Amino acid sequence: MKKILVIQGGGRPDGNTARLAASFCRGLRDAGHEAEIISLNRAEVKGCLGCNACRYGKPCVLKDDFGMIAEKLRQADCLALASPLYFWTISARLKALIERFYSLAQPDPAPPFGRYERYPTKDCVLLMTAADDLFWTFEQAVSYYRFALVRYIGFRDRGCYLAGGCGETDGPPAIDGTRHIEGVYSFAKGLFREE
Ligand SMILES: Cc1cc2nc3c(=O)[nH]c(=O)nc-3n(C[C@H](O)[C@H](O)[C@H](O)COP(=O)(O)O)c2cc1C
Repeated sequence: MKKILVIQGGGRPDGNTARLAASFCRGLRDAGHEAEIISLNRAEVKGCLGCNACRYGKPCVLKDDFGMIAEKLRQADCLALASPLYFWTISARLKALIERFYSLAQPDPAPPFGRYERYPTKDCVLLMTAADDLFWTFEQAVSYYRFALVRYIGFRDRGCYLAGGCGETDGPPAIDGTRHIEGVYSFAKGLFREE
């Protein structure tokens, strides 16, 4: 049994991304795992100020919900980030959360080339929705995920579920009319099958 923390970074509380994340959790639970969704609509996480207080053993100067999320992440086996595609990358809410991972870094006396510190080791998944469904639609977002979260932070990539063709945000969420609710359910069900 795995413990998965899902962070929902879409702007619409019951939008395409929230629905994708909910179906992902249903798949995980049906496979016997524990899944919790935190929506960044309700939990507030501000972007890092770069004051470096956290690097000198001091608490973060920003007063928001990051501490609560960091504690849940500490207890989780896997972090799933769910985001709409906003201007070809992840939402600002999720980017702010990733910036705050700065405070989770520990000194690494012998880091591999191009890394400076050590982060908690977790499995990681990217879930995204977008209006477009072209071959390049998610390229920037996936590239950032692979570079920052997998290569730099060192999370173990468990895969990306990229739901294109979900429509614009000027109408009701269109994801229910696509294959993605079922698709992400199956993706979740199979995630830790071999373990
Ligand atoms: C600010 C903003 C920027 C967007 N940028 C893109 C984009 O670059 N490419 C795209 O295909 N869709 C874009 N969209 C559409 C959303 O990605 C899409 O409607 C998504 O499913 C919305 O998720 P939600 O229903 O969870 O809010 C954008 C929507 C908004 C509001």
